[in-house]
Amino acid sequence: MKDKAYIRLNKLTKSYQEGDKTRAVLDDLELSITEGELIVLLGRSGSGKSTLLNLVSGIDKPDSGAVIIGGTNLAELNEKERTLFRRKNIGFVFQSFNLISTLNAYENVLLPLKLKGVTDEETLSKADQFLQDVGLGDRGDSYPDRLSGGEQQRVAIARALAHEPMLILADEPTGNLDYETGKQILDILENLVRKNGRTIILATHDRDICKIADRVLEIRGGKLTEVEDSAVQL
Ligand SMILES: Nc1ncnc2c1ncn2[C@@H]1O[C@H](COP(=O)(O)OP(=O)(O)OP(=O)(O)O)[C@@H](O)[C@H]1O
Ligand SMILES: [Mg+2]
Repeated sequence: MKDKAYIRLNKLTKSYQEGDKTRAVLDDLELSITEGELIVLLGRSGSGKSTLLNLVSGIDKPDSGAVIIGGTNLAELNEKERTLFRRKNIGFVFQSFNLISTLNAYENVLLPLKLKGVTDEETLSKADQFLQDVGLGDRGDSYPDRLSGGEQQRVAIARALAHEPMLILADEPTGNLDYETGKQILDILENLVRKNGRTIILATHDRDICKIADRVLEIRGGKLTEVEDSAVQL
């Protein structure tokens, strides 16, 4: 079956309970994304960007509503099936990298391929290729604590792409980086995504990043609105 990233969020609602207080984060949110779209998700700190990405990835569950990816309703999968679905179809670049400290850069990138059950050498060699693509071909042996923030972020991006997922979710991929490194990371991400026709949702505070987007969405008060080109320039 051909991978097809068609995402549909249907009346997605999520709130968090803290003591006796309920904090509504996402409120009846609706969204459709077609295959190959590069979506930038804007929103202030605390607006719900990470919450939304966690729901789309199936890491977290909504209170109500549905996440449908390529025709699969995540709510209809049990936990194990959801994990397998994620391993096969989704690459996640976490806000805080989440590299495994006991694995070197190469092994970190290799991990999603191994988890997917890949054993043939030719496919496994792609881990090397992706490290080269992010400019770290010579750092495969380095452990995360020996890498700078930008280098760790690049490893995290290589890891998110190595198993060639149809959907890439990137949570503030440039948030911890200086301007130049951030620009470099975005170029890498955009090229890799465009080259392979993948779909991406990229969450950020940074309106500069909107330049690379096919569509810019802003999350505010639990709802999503489309941001017009002219508004992005402001
Ligand atoms: N596990 C949790 N328990 C309680 N509240 C939570 C939890 N996770 C998130 N929240 C709350 O949900 C709201 C949205 O958080 P979220 O992390 O999605 O925001 P964000 O847009 O990603 O912010 P940032 O730009 O700072 O990363 C915040 O008010 C946060 O305090
Ligand atoms: Mg966040």
